[in-house]
Amino acid sequence: MNPLSRQEPYVIQREVKPLDFLAAGETASDFKETLKSLGIPPEICRKASIVTYEAEMNAVIHGGGGIIALELAGDRITIVASDEGPGIENVSLAMQEGYTTAPDSIRELGFGAGMGLPNIKKYSDELEIETELGKGTTLRAVILLDPSGEEVSDLCRTV
Ligand SMILES: Nc1ncnc2c1ncn2[C@@H]1O[C@H](COP(=O)(O)OP(=O)(O)OP(=O)(O)O)[C@@H](O)[C@H]1O
Ligand SMILES: [Mg+2]
Repeated sequence: MNPLSRQEPYVIQREVKPLDFLAAGETASDFKETLKSLGIPPEICRKASIVTYEAEMNAVIHGGGGIIALELAGDRITIVASDEGPGIENVSLAMQEGYTTAPDSIRELGFGAGMGLPNIKKYSDELEIETELGKGTTLRAVILLDPSGEEVSDLCRTV
């Protein structure tokens, strides 16, 4: 059954493993393909893919792995990344461009520019981060299907 014809939320989730750089990024491509196949406009798919990729990489690199979920309901896409890693000590600091705690071994792989969270903020319409030291982190990013707030298309209305 075409998910677009249903009123209930459409949810998929994937597990990501710690420091698994071979598989890292697959969730973002997967979600992007899913959204494309559901007829979501390319610009919205692109934003969701960037947000998913950065959240996924953070779970892989900093969070000890985790679960990344994609939810489509009503007027929005919600990406939820949760992990049971060390948590973030200072969220406002972590949100700053260039701030990173990635060690050299990770930076040598090309990660750790301190741009993931700022990019998530830039490409999402709402962002919440719940974190507790020693317990883990849950990031929830919302991407509106119609960010301009104008009348939603027939397609979006049926999602
Ligand atoms: N899920 C997480 N668990 C624990 N710490 C995190 C998590 N996500 C982010 N952080 C902390 O916030 C910092 C900033 O994250 P951000 O994604 O902006 O940059 P980065 O991951 O270090 O580098 P980049 O994303 O550019 O590769 C990280 O270096 C880390 O200290
Ligand atoms: Mg990052």
